Amino acid sequence: MKQLIELNINGIAYDVVAGPEDLLIDVLRQKVGLTGTKKGCGQGDCGTCTVLIEDRRALACLTLAIACRGKRILTIEGMEVDGKLHPIQQAFVDHGAIQCGYCTPGMVMSAKALLDENPSPALSEIKRGMSGNLCRCTGYVKIIEAVREAAGRLPDGAPAGERGA
Ligand code: FES
Ligand code: FES
Repeated sequence: MKQLIELNINGIAYDVVAGPEDLLIDVLRQKVGLTGTKKGCGQGDCGTCTVLIEDRRALACLTLAIACRGKRILTIEGMEVDGKLHPIQQAFVDHGAIQCGYCTPGMVMSAKALLDENPSPALSEIKRGMSGNLCRCTGYVKIIEAVREAAGRLPDGAPAGERGA
């Protein structure tokens, strides 16, 4: 049975009607209108739909919307700071780590989770941390470079999601 639920997305409360089988990816894109989160495989393999729930990465294609009640959801739309790209986003732009761009929102969200947990990751840690995100354009070298660069740009001591450029 469908019910009215409140979702906290990027610090804003949204009232949406969702059924027990409605997936977060579909609710975000079709009911809330936040289409930055992309749907790739739809079965948990590609990481394209990555968002953060309570600061931990989650696959929106495998997450029930009703399970997100009362939890903080962060999507790519919430990464911007005061109208500017987040340093992670800017690093992706500066390094040309975007080809078709379809995987990019999920990559950025995974990078944020990684750098929040480990602000100075080694190359191997970046590769491992980003390994759940697939890029069909295969631009992995530039993506890894962008994450390394972003790590250097983020001031110490504050979560990546709360810092400006
Ligand atoms: S669309 Fe969710 S993991 Fe591929
Ligand atoms: S940039 Fe095209 S899928 Fe990654």
